[in-house]
Amino acid sequence: MKRVTPRQIKQFNHDLLDWFHRNGRSLPWRETNNPYYIWVSEIMLQQTQVDTVIPYYNQFIKHFPTVEALADASEESALKSWEGLGYYSRVRNLQTGVREVVASYGGQVPDNKKDLLSIRGIGPYTAGALLSIAFGEPEPAVDGNVMRVMSRIFLIDDDIAKVKTRKKFESVVRELIVEADPSSFNQCLMDLGAMVCHPKNPDCAECPVQCYCRAYDEGVQTEYPFKSGKTKVKTADYAVLLLKDSKGRLLIERRADSGLLAGFWQFPMVDRSVEGKAAFQKKVCEKIGQSVKLKKESFTYTHRFSHLIWNLSLYSGEFQGDTDNPEKGWQWLPVSEFEKRPFPVPFLKIIDWLKKNRRNDT
Ligand code: ADE
Repeated sequence: MKRVTPRQIKQFNHDLLDWFHRNGRSLPWRETNNPYYIWVSEIMLQQTQVDTVIPYYNQFIKHFPTVEALADASEESALKSWEGLGYYSRVRNLQTGVREVVASYGGQVPDNKKDLLSIRGIGPYTAGALLSIAFGEPEPAVDGNVMRVMSRIFLIDDDIAKVKTRKKFESVVRELIVEADPSSFNQCLMDLGAMVCHPKNPDCAECPVQCYCRAYDEGVQTEYPFKSGKTKVKTADYAVLLLKDSKGRLLIERRADSGLLAGFWQFPMVDRSVEGKAAFQKKVCEKIGQSVKLKKESFTYTHRFSHLIWNLSLYSGEFQGDTDNPEKGWQWLPVSEFEKRPFPVPFLKIIDWLKKNRRNDT
């Protein structure tokens, strides 16, 4: 990166902030400087688009309007409020973090980096976002959007898949931000990344800092940022079992307390990649403790996680025997009461299908 003079920095900031004040998005978390609300928004926004986040953010802060309200809530009600948003460890960590704030800081979100970084779920990005947006400190908040914008302006070709690259972008932002309004500066880079400096088709004609952009000068915008090969995504094929008891209730089970989708509810699932019908029946029997005649339903669903793809197919059957004293982690529930429990998206899709397609007997 070439050295930039203080005068150039001032002009760059002016052009950037002028654009932001005219074109920046009006978003609910921009109407507050309550650090808890900003914290919630930043955690939601980490893996999710703004448009998806808005309704979740609004209902989440309505449900849990204070740090204490979230700290005192059950994990299941916090998961329920996050249902459908994905990456659920975010909400578990947020709740743990909020409980730490209540226990160690009297319910006040700390306003310094050291304390913030010690809180569960707060890393350098979230700490920077909180310090700049809620407390007006000149701290960088470097996410993927910011790296894209900055890599293009300054022609930085370090691999953004590497952890140490973020530090380089932080030092670039640190040099620029001092002169600016830190909250607007950081959020402007986010908006520029989301609205103008798109990954594939950047709208350079609309860019307020086009005249500073070295990638634009050289016509190489879409080659930046550089990111090394992605990790391979695995595939898993599952049979999802819709088991009905004599009272028309369906079997659901709670997932383990840790790992993928921890604490959510689902229909029992069995590995479908086994060879042959007998091996499949054996798996089903191991899973539910009895052999049951299964009918394959028309429904299939593919769900993509960041690192894994689930191919789900649906099988229905009648469960025999006592269902009033279920095993630990199991529950027999009529479909009409599924609302009470948090389910991950693939199972919400199955429940929708069930409601639309089944006779009214569950
Ligand atoms: N992405 C992450 N944080 C954001 C914010 N505060 N505004 C818009 N997009 C964001």
